[in-house]
Amino acid sequence: MALLDATAITKSFAGVQALRGVSFELRSGEVHALLGENGAGKSTLIKVITGAEKADSGTLTVAGHVVPHHSPAAARALGIAAVYQQPALFPDLTVEENVGLALESGPAWRRIDWHARRRQARELLERSGAEIAPERTVSTLSMPEQQLVEIAKAIGARARILILDEPTASVTDREVERLFRVIGALRSEGAGIVYISHRLDEVAVIADRVTVLRDGQNVATRDMRDVDRDELVRLMVGREMQAIYPKREVPIGKTALEVKGLGCRAAGIRDITFEVRRGEILGIAGLVGSGRTELAETLFGLTPADEGAIGLQDDVMRTESPAAAIRKKMAYLPEDRRQHGVVMEMPVAANISLANLDAVSRNGLIDHAVERSLAIRYVERLRIKTPSVHAETGALSGGNQQKVAVARWLAINPEVLILDEPTQGVDIGSKREIHQIMVELAAQGMAIVMISSELAEILGMSDRVAVMHGGTMAGILSRAEATQEKILALALGHA
Ligand SMILES: Nc1ncnc2c1ncn2[C@@H]1O[C@H](COP(=O)(O)OP(=O)(O)OP(=O)(O)O)[C@@H](O)[C@H]1O
Ligand SMILES: [Mg+2]
Repeated sequence: MALLDATAITKSFAGVQALRGVSFELRSGEVHALLGENGAGKSTLIKVITGAEKADSGTLTVAGHVVPHHSPAAARALGIAAVYQQPALFPDLTVEENVGLALESGPAWRRIDWHARRRQARELLERSGAEIAPERTVSTLSMPEQQLVEIAKAIGARARILILDEPTASVTDREVERLFRVIGALRSEGAGIVYISHRLDEVAVIADRVTVLRDGQNVATRDMRDVDRDELVRLMVGREMQAIYPKREVPIGKTALEVKGLGCRAAGIRDITFEVRRGEILGIAGLVGSGRTELAETLFGLTPADEGAIGLQDDVMRTESPAAAIRKKMAYLPEDRRQHGVVMEMPVAANISLANLDAVSRNGLIDHAVERSLAIRYVERLRIKTPSVHAETGALSGGNQQKVAVARWLAINPEVLILDEPTQGVDIGSKREIHQIMVELAAQGMAIVMISSELAEILGMSDRVAVMHGGTMAGILSRAEATQEKILALALGHA
């Protein structure tokens, strides 16, 4: 008997048919991957399963019983737990409090044993692969750290049905490995796990079965053994695509960004020295918590440096604010798009032109025709799935929101472009396109700094690889020197 059976589920949002009669079965003791391009309907399907969205039609059966009135509370009672694409923790509570709150509590009259809870929370954090001090306040955590806390929470809820919606979008291979060990253990205890990811190599390792959605329909459910990467891509995208990076050699020019002895106590980084030259793509690797994002934020003036110097455009300074960085032609795509990347309430077109107002304005007024055509160009190139460029960005799927944020920064013409996880959560067709645009921008003389948790992307796209460990630079490798082993050794502090 299936643990969960969703039959002929339909769901539409104002004019968008997100699910068109999807059926999906989850068995006990399996990891079932759910794949599909951005906007295919994956998150909508799991929201129906967790009761967060109400289906228009279709039935849900859990352990042989039809669920008549589904709701989040009903889902919890049925042993369904989910980690959503966007972490939803209490920002002002500590990590262990957040995890502790999700733990089963005894009968209402029993006193909550906070001591035991704290211990349990620590154990869960460790199991889930998180190296995060449990007493830290959640608002100080990076996106990937928050994701790891979410995972610890879901495991703590002892779910029979565990749904992970892109749990690893921005965590590194090492954390993924640990997470997979936990998933393996839950599977052997008879839980069923739904696993959504755009990283196909990961899916091949962890999944027993795979279901591919396209345009709100189930196009295939297969045993993982019976499909290879190429076929999965064909099922998702409807065409062939190879796993090659479009990186090519371009002339390297003079130094565009020079960083000397940079440090920022508030950001927890120190003594960082490197340079990036025109035409160069510098990859920044490192484990979660090594200071990669903090470095980017210091360079961009979000957390101004208190040590060292930043050389930009023949000027040596410490970027005091993002405005100062932008004046010096530096741009930054943050990792946390929800907070800093896009304005959810604004239309797609306005978001894309936001960093780019000069290009779309005439005499200080926005020329809407120009704005529109700029947006259309990027919507087509990055295959952003939206009813129109005038649609509200917040109504797009998670990956399509990411693409809007990426488009906004790719569309401007900075001299130094810092990209924090530019392809996280983005489907493989668009990922290829983002890489292609990066190569074109480098060829035009832009200096690009790319933070990525995916080693394949780092190796495939970088001219040089800078590896961070414990808030400082552990080493810089040339493209020829860089290997997975060397990067990992530096990231772990072994070198
Ligand atoms: N609240 C909403 N209002 C309007 N449209 C929505 C809403 N939620 C989802 N949609 C639309 O439904 C479709 C499916 O979205 P869904 O979030 O399920 O995609 P997904 O497969 O999870 O994609 P991704 O990989 O980008 O996360 C998309 O076209 C999206 O724009
Ligand atoms: Mg989604």
